[in-house]
Amino acid sequence: MEVKGVVLAGGTGSRLFPLTRAINKHLLPVGRYPMILHPIARLKQAGIYKILIVTGREDMGSMVKLLGSGREYGLEFTFRVQEEAGGIAQALGLAEDFIQHHRLIAILGDNIFSEDISPFIAGYLRQETGAKILLKQVEQPQRFGVVELEGNRITGIEEKPLVSKSSFAVTGIYMYDKHVFEVIRSLKPSDRGELEITDVNNHYIHLGQMTYDILEGWWTDAGTFSSWKDACRMTWDWELPL
Ligand code: G1P
Repeated sequence: MEVKGVVLAGGTGSRLFPLTRAINKHLLPVGRYPMILHPIARLKQAGIYKILIVTGREDMGSMVKLLGSGREYGLEFTFRVQEEAGGIAQALGLAEDFIQHHRLIAILGDNIFSEDISPFIAGYLRQETGAKILLKQVEQPQRFGVVELEGNRITGIEEKPLVSKSSFAVTGIYMYDKHVFEVIRSLKPSDRGELEITDVNNHYIHLGQMTYDILEGWWTDAGTFSSWKDACRMTWDWELPL
């Protein structure tokens, strides 16, 4: 069985307006590279060469202009259009034909991190079925999906809770088996009208099929002004393994 990569680069980027009015968030610079090259480089480092990019209709042209076929990086890109900003889970649902019976690792296009994720993927592949998420201990968990833990077990995830039940945020790095597409089909839109990735993860948790690892290296999303600034500062001298 193969693991294929999915990079989710849709959404409106509203928290970075007006920067993102004319430019897709994932094309903004982070260090010396457009943002989306950071997660793509981590996939390549982990030996994942077949990568699906999902973005909105408005931005697909510039995305293809930046990335091309992938040949210059030794990668193979496939592109799919998400017609409306219907949430991360909806975007992931578009990967079904691409994934077929394989496993997948999905990374949000604004997740920037320093760690080689190969060992986590290897661990996931030893798992017979189910999903794995990566967590990171952060100072302001309320900005993210936050796990509730009982001993070593995750009992649930709350999306952007007012009061968080732990200091562990769910990063935008997710590993799933092919059953994820059935789970996505069963979802109802949340109060903000989107299909939520947190609902997908809670589904696996309730089935007892969710494992996790904790990122020890540096991690941020780059979706707000303050986190984008941190990401730019941190990565200024980075040479990506592309
Ligand atoms: C999304 C997820 C959230 C996760 C975060 C990681 O939030 O919904 O659970 O913690 O990505 O980057 P968003 O940044 O889309 O608000």
